[in-house]
Amino acid sequence: MELKSSDKNQYLNNESIRLPHGMVYIETYGCQMNVNDSEVVASILEANGYAITSNLEDSDVILINTCSIRENAETRVWGRLDVFRQYKKKKPSLLIGVLGCMAERLKTKFLEEDKLVDMVVGPDAYRELPILLRSAEDGQRGINVLLSREETYADINPVRLDKNKVSAFVSIMRGCNNMCSYCVVPFVRGGERSRDPKTIVREVEELIYSGYREVTLLGQNVDSYSWVYENGDRVSFSELLEMVAKLNSILRIRFSTSHPKDLSDEVLYTMAMYENICNHIHLPVQSGSTRILELMNRGYTREYYIKRIESIRQILPDCSISSDIISGFCTETELDHDQTLSLMQWSGFDFAYMFKYSERPNTKAARKYSDDIPEEIKTRRLTEIIELQGKLSEESKKKDIGKTFEVLVEGISKKSNNHYYGRTSQNKVVVFPKAGSKVGDYVNVVVLSSTPATLLGEILVS
Ligand code: SAH
Ligand code: SF4
Ligand code: F3S
Repeated sequence: MELKSSDKNQYLNNESIRLPHGMVYIETYGCQMNVNDSEVVASILEANGYAITSNLEDSDVILINTCSIRENAETRVWGRLDVFRQYKKKKPSLLIGVLGCMAERLKTKFLEEDKLVDMVVGPDAYRELPILLRSAEDGQRGINVLLSREETYADINPVRLDKNKVSAFVSIMRGCNNMCSYCVVPFVRGGERSRDPKTIVREVEELIYSGYREVTLLGQNVDSYSWVYENGDRVSFSELLEMVAKLNSILRIRFSTSHPKDLSDEVLYTMAMYENICNHIHLPVQSGSTRILELMNRGYTREYYIKRIESIRQILPDCSISSDIISGFCTETELDHDQTLSLMQWSGFDFAYMFKYSERPNTKAARKYSDDIPEEIKTRRLTEIIELQGKLSEESKKKDIGKTFEVLVEGISKKSNNHYYGRTSQNKVVVFPKAGSKVGDYVNVVVLSSTPATLLGEILVS
């Protein structure tokens, strides 16, 4: 085993720590849940004698945690595997593992293609990683892509791989039961299961104790979180939210993703009741056309979505709303597309993630509908969506100029060492001169101007 000199020193300087079994480099693609899964993987490996390195060059093991959500997400992973091939040529003992959603979707394909990949591990099989790694070290290539009905990694305290030590992801559930017709997630992540609230609370308490000031509770559809105790008592999402909010008022709470069909007024009232639950809801609409929403199997209409936004505006007047939008889904007409634009306009989204429809093998849409919108039309519609969102995001930021927000200081601005960045409760990034503050502080920032991506301001001295 080779160690990078800086990593080596870290271990050699502390004689009470044994030399690690191997240095593992983890690269992560996909959503926040995948980011959190990599932290779970890091925790499992550290407990088994491996050390995590952020340096690809000196690793003994490369793990790539993959995403299958759109075709281009998978193309990127194939590209990275080609790069890793060069590393393996130089160092034949290097082990390469494919983890996550693409491992689950393509299973043995990674082992059949050539001898590059040593391990293929699906999202519910990470506890097996140490065993698979030991076998791989002995020249035995391995795979475990079993999906589980129970696995939530509830007892595992993720090793935080992020650098800022201020905000952390906490998974509260896994999988998805919704079967949106375009979506690969239920196939690669399995059915929905919620995590024991006691373990969530314990994890958050430890984060607070370690100095964290913000958690984001993660699930594909957090509003359907449900934990039933043996005595029949049930904990709903709004109750979980309240349990976490009550732990310490210094901790900010965010959550993602809310599904429009399941977001309840109860959750909105809980948000209104606790100052430390952030005023932001990510509420993916996907399309503004009821006909397309039906084909997508989203479980709500345009009108229902509008009503949900009206409730948010009424119960939480300062709440920001972001969304996900797909252009060019099967059979989408210009009229359907116009309805998406008009719903975006009406909703005034503060932010949105926007995608071209990408057919995923075996989904209902792939099996039943034809991917019939030509690429150039998908692109043109997406461009129109992006342009409109650009205007809406700009308007949303302009409205903040002159207002003062409580901002959690998260780190040094990329552009200037003299500036920090942080976010408002509404999840908007603000950059401001440090003025004696430090990372992890809450500061009141008055917004003076905005750029397309951020708000610019300065700390108000009271
Ligand atoms: N669970 C979340 C979304 C998870 S996937 C929800 O239901 O809102 C994140 C986003 O990727 C989706 O909201 C959707 O906009 C997009 N997406 C999913 N499958 C897609 C596909 N096949 N083509 C294009 N975009 C897709
Ligand atoms: Fe996919 Fe729909 Fe589940 Fe979201 S709710 S993960 S879009 S199936
Ligand atoms: Fe991608 Fe899997 Fe997340 S498909 S979006 S990494 S759940």
